Amino acid sequence: AMIDKGNHRHFMLKEIYEQPVVVAQTLRSYVRRIDDQVSLPIPDFDLSAIRRVTIVACGTSFYAGMVAKYWFEQFARMPVDLDVASEFRYRAPVMEPEGGLALFISQSGETADTLAALRHARAEGQKIAVVVNVPTSSMAREADLLLPSHAGPEIGVASTKAFTCQLAVLAALVANVARAKGRLTPEEEKDIVRHLSEAPSAINQALAQDEAVQALAPLIVPARDVLYLGRGTDYPLALEGALKLKEISYIHAEGYAAGEMKHGPIALIDEAVPVIVIAPSGPLFEKTVSNMQEVQARGGKVVLISDEDGIAAAGEGCLATLALPKVHPLIAPMVYAVPVQLLAYHVAVIKGTDVDQPRNLAKSVTVE
Ligand code: G6P
Repeated sequence: AMIDKGNHRHFMLKEIYEQPVVVAQTLRSYVRRIDDQVSLPIPDFDLSAIRRVTIVACGTSFYAGMVAKYWFEQFARMPVDLDVASEFRYRAPVMEPEGGLALFISQSGETADTLAALRHARAEGQKIAVVVNVPTSSMAREADLLLPSHAGPEIGVASTKAFTCQLAVLAALVANVARAKGRLTPEEEKDIVRHLSEAPSAINQALAQDEAVQALAPLIVPARDVLYLGRGTDYPLALEGALKLKEISYIHAEGYAAGEMKHGPIALIDEAVPVIVIAPSGPLFEKTVSNMQEVQARGGKVVLISDEDGIAAAGEGCLATLALPKVHPLIAPMVYAVPVQLLAYHVAVIKGTDVDQPRNLAKSVTVE
C-alpha cells in the first residue's frame, strides 16, 4: 500500500507523531497486562544460561543498543560488550560460546555491517537475538530469537519511531533476562509492566512540547556547532540528538558524556555554541547540573531538557527549558527522544533542507 504523509509536511514529522501508537503496538507483543508479566517469543535456548551479552548495531540503532547496555547492567546485572558493527566485525572480539548472547539491532534488518557482524558472531558460537523492524529481512531470517519492533514502515531517512520501538523491545528483553536470572521479584516485574504501559501517554506528553521546541529552533539555526550532554542513558540520548541534528540540518553537533566535557569540548564553549543538556531529576542530576554550570560560567547558552522538579532546581539562567513527565528509567529514553527529534526537525525545516531525504545519506546501507 502507498504510504502518505497525511496532514504532515514531512514523513519524519508524521513518524515522530506516530510514536505513542507504535510504541503501544510494540509493547502489546511484549507485555501481558493480565498477569503483569513481560513475555518474549520463546527462544530455543535457555535465557537463564546467558552469561554475557554482546550488542552490535549502526547509527541510531547503535544508540538504542547503548541504552540497552546500561539497562542490562543495572537491571539484570549482566556484563555487556557494545560496539558499532563496522568495528566489531574487524577487531578480534573475544566471545565465549558458553552462555554468549549476541544482540543485533536494526530498523531495516539489511545493514551490511550489522549483517556481517551477525554472521561473525554466529561463527563464534553465539546465540543470535535480533531486534528488527522488517520481519522479512535478512537479519530476521538468521535470528535464533527474533524480536520485532512494530514501528511500521519508516520512510524518513533519519530514524525516529523505529528507535523508540527498539527501546520498548529492549526494555522488555532486559526485564525478561533479569527475571530469568532471578534478578527481578514479581513485584518489581509488575512495577516495570505498569511503567511500560504508561510509556505511550508519557510520549504524548513529550509531544505536547512541540510548540516550545518550535519556538526554540530559530535560536539554534545560526549555530555552527551544537553540543549535547547527558549522563547514564541520557548519554546515548545526547549522541542521538547530535546525530539527528547533523543528519537533517547539516549543523555540526557532538554528543558527549556530561562528565567528559571538561576533558575537551569545554574549550569550544562560547556564546555561539548552544548546549543541549538532557538531565531528568534523579541520582545523576546534580552532577550533570554542575557540568551545565561550567558551560554557563563560560557564557554558553544552555537548553535544559528535564522534568518540572529538575527545571525548578536548575532552569534559571537557561536559554530555554523543556519540561517532560517524570518517568521510570526503563521508559525515560523513549520520552526524552521526542524533544531531540523535534528540535532537529524544526531546525532543518527553517534551514530548508530536504528533511526526509538528507544529502549523502541512505535509509539502508547495504555496503560495508
Ligand atoms: C542508515 C540510516 C540511519 C540508521 C542506520 C542503521 O545510516 O540513515 O538512520 O540508523 O543506517 O540502520 P538500521 O536499518 O540497521 O537500523
